[in-house]
Amino acid sequence: MADYWNIAPGMETVLKELFSRDIEAEVTLEFNIPEKDFNNAGKGSSETKNVLKRLGVDSEILRRIAVAAYEAEINVAAHSIGGKMTSLIYDDMIHIKFEDSGPGIADINQAMVPGFSTADDLVREFGFGAGLGLPNIQKNSDALHISSAKGEPTLVEFLIFFG
Ligand SMILES: Nc1ncnc2c1ncn2[C@@H]1O[C@H](COP(=O)(O)OP(=O)(O)OP(=O)(O)O)[C@@H](O)[C@H]1O
Ligand SMILES: [Mg+2]
Repeated sequence: MADYWNIAPGMETVLKELFSRDIEAEVTLEFNIPEKDFNNAGKGSSETKNVLKRLGVDSEILRRIAVAAYEAEINVAAHSIGGKMTSLIYDDMIHIKFEDSGPGIADINQAMVPGFSTADDLVREFGFGAGLGLPNIQKNSDALHISSAKGEPTLVEFLIFFG
């Protein structure tokens, strides 16, 4: 397995600890993401956004969370055989995890390059495949971790702080 991290310099220890926080979240939401189900993919992101809105999260931060979560959710539907999304909402931040059942990413650094895409024809018919999802997740999150390899499940997880 290869690990990719996008973490501000000097924050490695603190942020990696937050990814593996074992205190219970205030709110935990779980959603299934079936393969190629573009009518339902996006529901986890929009429900998460609605819950955060009710909790009073700032609208600019809400927008970043919604964009990052939507891109990651669509990626599971578009590029994997299916998986799940888990939103862990804490007082001060959200940690969202996307875990699928493969087939994995052969080269994560290449997948991060804007414009790189392996989207098939069906995925492109639905308007995806510009190769901008992962860069967008990185741009909108405070910390990003991807773990994957060819033939393996993929984990994409990110943190976004509320203030
Ligand atoms: N969960 C995943 N499983 C397997 N491969 C993935 C996964 N997520 C991303 N990838 C790979 O990384 C590439 C880049 O992803 P990215 O989201 O940036 O672009 P895209 O999904 O192809 O297009 P867009 O997001 O702009 O619609 C994908 O084309 C795919 O090869
Ligand atoms: Mg994408």
